[in-house]
Amino acid sequence: MSGTVSPEDAYTAAPFVPDRGGLPALREAAAGCRGCPLHRDATQTVFGAGAATARVMLVGEQPGDQEDRQGKPFVGPAGKLLDRALEEAGIDPADAYVTNAVKHFKFTRAEPRKRRIHKSPTLRETTACGPWLAAELARVEPELIVVLGATAGKALLGSSFRVTEVRGTVLEEEIHGHRERLVPTVHPSAVLRAEDRDGAYRGLLADLKVAARALG
Ligand code: URA
Repeated sequence: MSGTVSPEDAYTAAPFVPDRGGLPALREAAAGCRGCPLHRDATQTVFGAGAATARVMLVGEQPGDQEDRQGKPFVGPAGKLLDRALEEAGIDPADAYVTNAVKHFKFTRAEPRKRRIHKSPTLRETTACGPWLAAELARVEPELIVVLGATAGKALLGSSFRVTEVRGTVLEEEIHGHRERLVPTVHPSAVLRAEDRDGAYRGLLADLKVAARALG
C-alpha cells in the first residue's frame, strides 16, 4: 500500500531529544527514550560517558551485557581491550568521550533464563537512535571521531561504509552540517573473536596510533 507508514518506519528518537541543555540534560532525557522497541527488553539506556571537553569521541555499536547491567558504555571485555589499546596508542581513555550508535542492548536468548546473546541492531534501529549521536556530537564537538566497526560507520557515514576499505585513514566528512575528521577501525569485539587475536589487536593499535597522530 503506497503512502502507508509502517510502525517500523516511524522509529525515531527525535521527539525525545531536548534542544537545550548539556550532556546531563541529554543523558536524563535518553533514560526515557521510547523511540524504537529496543527499550522494552533492555535494562536501561546506556548513554555516552566522558567530558563535554573531550578531544576525541569513540563510537561503538551498542551496549553489551555488562554495559546494559551497569549503565555505562565499554565496561565489559571489549571495553577493557579498548582501554588497553588506547593507552598503548597514546590516547588517555580519560580524555575520550565514549558512546555507541545504539543506546540499548539488543539480544536474544537461546533458552529462557539462559545467557543473553548480542544481536546486531538493524539499520532502522541505528537510524532511529541517530538523533542521540547527533546531539552528543553537537555538545562535545570533538576534534576527532574514532569509528569502531561497521555499525558506527554506517550510522555516521551512511550504509555504503566498509570498515576494511577505510580503516586506519583520516577521513574528512560533513556530518550534520559540521566538517568532521574521523579515523575508522575495527570493533574491539571483533579483535576478541578473531582467530589471530594478536594480529587483530596489532591492527587495532596501528589504527589508533593514526588517530593519536591526527590529534597531535
Ligand atoms: N560493544 C560496543 O559497541 N559498545 C559497548 O559499549 C560495549 C561493547
